[in-house]
Amino acid sequence: MRKKFVAGNWKMNKTISESVALAADVAKRLSDAMPSCDVALAPTFLAIEPLAEVLRNTPIKLAAQNCHFENDGAFTGEVSARMLKHAGCHYVILGHSERRQYFGETDELINKKVKKALAEGLEVILCVGETLEQRENDETKKVIVSQVSHCTADLSIDDMKRITIAYEPVWAIGTGQTATPDQAEEVHRLIRFFIASLHTDELANDITIQYGGSVKASNAKELFAMPNIDGGLIGGASLKADEFVQIVHSFS
Ligand code: 13P
Repeated sequence: MRKKFVAGNWKMNKTISESVALAADVAKRLSDAMPSCDVALAPTFLAIEPLAEVLRNTPIKLAAQNCHFENDGAFTGEVSARMLKHAGCHYVILGHSERRQYFGETDELINKKVKKALAEGLEVILCVGETLEQRENDETKKVIVSQVSHCTADLSIDDMKRITIAYEPVWAIGTGQTATPDQAEEVHRLIRFFIASLHTDELANDITIQYGGSVKASNAKELFAMPNIDGGLIGGASLKADEFVQIVHSFS
C-alpha cells in the first residue's frame, strides 16, 4: 500500500546539540498528536548517532543526506551506507540537486549509491527534478524520465519497493517559489506512469512520491491533497519544530 511520508532534510544546518534539541522538540510535539504518515529527519552525519538515541521509541525514523557507494576504503571524507545503517539510519537521501549541482554527482554515480544503500539495508529517498532552464525549454518530462530511469537502472521490483521518489524542481528549492499543486501533480503523475511502464501498475500505484521545494505549513495542505502527491521532503521549514509538525499534520 502506498504510504504517506514527510521527511525533514536539515542540510548543512545545526550543531550536534542543536540537532538533539530540535529532534527532541519534534518528537515531543508528535507524541502529543500522533502523525498519520511516516516521518523521518535527516540531520548532519555528526548528529545521526545522538539522534538515534533521542528518537528511540518514537515513530520518527532517521535519514542520512548522502552516502558513498563502497563499504569502506581509501575515500577521504566519505561515509558509507554500512556505517549509516550501523549508526541507526533507516533511510538515505540520494541524488539531491545540491549534490548534483555542487558536487558533480551524475545519474550513474547516484545509481551506484542507490544499489549499495539498498544492499546494506537502507531505504532510499531518491531526488529528481528539472532546473528552471530545462522547464522553460520544455524539457521537464525528458529530464525527469531520464533521471528516474538512470538512477534506478538494474533495480528489481523488490528493490523499487524500498525507494521513495522525491520530485524537487530545482527552481523551487530554497527560493520560496513553490510549484503550484497542479504543476507538481503533473510531474508526479508522469513519474507514476513511467514507473508503470518500467515495472508494473501495482508498483507504480504503491510507490511513494514526495514533493520538495519551498513546502511550508501554509501550502502543504493543498499540495498533499493532490492524488499523486504522497507527502514532502522539507528543507528550510523542517528547521522549525512547530512548522515541520504542522506540515506533518497537513494530510486531510
Ligand atoms: P526547501 O524546502 O528549503 O525549499 O528545500 C527543499 C529541499 O531541497 C529538500 O530536500
